[in-house]
Amino acid sequence: MPSLLHALQTTIGRKILTGITGIFLTLFLVVHLAGNFSLFSSNPEAFNAYTEFLHSLGALLYLVEIILVVVFLLHAYIGVSIWLRKRKARPENYSVYKTSGEPSRQTVASKTMALTGVVILVFTIVHLFTFKWGPGIAEGYVTYIDGQEVRDLKRLVNDIFQNEFYVIGYTAVMILIGFHLKHGIWSAMQSLGAMSPKMSPVIYTIGGLIALALAVGFLFVPIWIYITGGV
Ligand code: HEM
Repeated sequence: MPSLLHALQTTIGRKILTGITGIFLTLFLVVHLAGNFSLFSSNPEAFNAYTEFLHSLGALLYLVEIILVVVFLLHAYIGVSIWLRKRKARPENYSVYKTSGEPSRQTVASKTMALTGVVILVFTIVHLFTFKWGPGIAEGYVTYIDGQEVRDLKRLVNDIFQNEFYVIGYTAVMILIGFHLKHGIWSAMQSLGAMSPKMSPVIYTIGGLIALALAVGFLFVPIWIYITGGV
């Protein structure tokens, strides 16, 4: 704990912590996306079986969820504090960016990290109320797996994405998540020191491709369901 507090007090410590927490959250997204794709499995109950398996983990799932919340809040807190410090230190209405000699990574994505981060935070809260704490067995979202009554999350996902407001909203947020990840992955690698001048463009490209794959993967689900009427 003292070393965490110390890390929070130094600029480099804060950058390293944002990088580590960011990579953890990106890994969560990779796992979440893989789970979402079970919606397209030839087994119609694959998605419900997957979410039911997660719930059957009981205390272990709660532990992972608590870690996820702590990491998410830490990441948001440090991200906003870095942004506020930068704003304070910035000369008024600067119009010229000084680069360190390497190609500049000042892009729309890098300059809007705080904004896209706040949008992702608000989205996540709405998202949890829609799905995690949304209608369940009592509201008729029920199905049977091996004779056991379970929550029919697949039907909820299908119902939610019949509504164009959700589809447009999810699509817009997934694009912003893509921008956030594009700069975030590169920045994390740089903060964690995995970057030589030679590797920098390679990691920048790989980060961009991972961000694109995640954004397209996530927005595919609502758009596909809306267009086809359901999976
Ligand atoms: C089209 C895209 C998405 C769909 C269809 C989707 C679907 C779902 C569903 C059905 C659940 C409930 C799982 C359960 O209760 O067992 C869930 C949980 C969750 N989703 Fe998503 N999701 C999507 C995108 C995202 C994105 C982009 C994020 C992050 C920014 C995210 C973050 C979460 C979190 C944090 C949980 C709670 C996990 C837990 O507590 O176990 N989701 N999602």
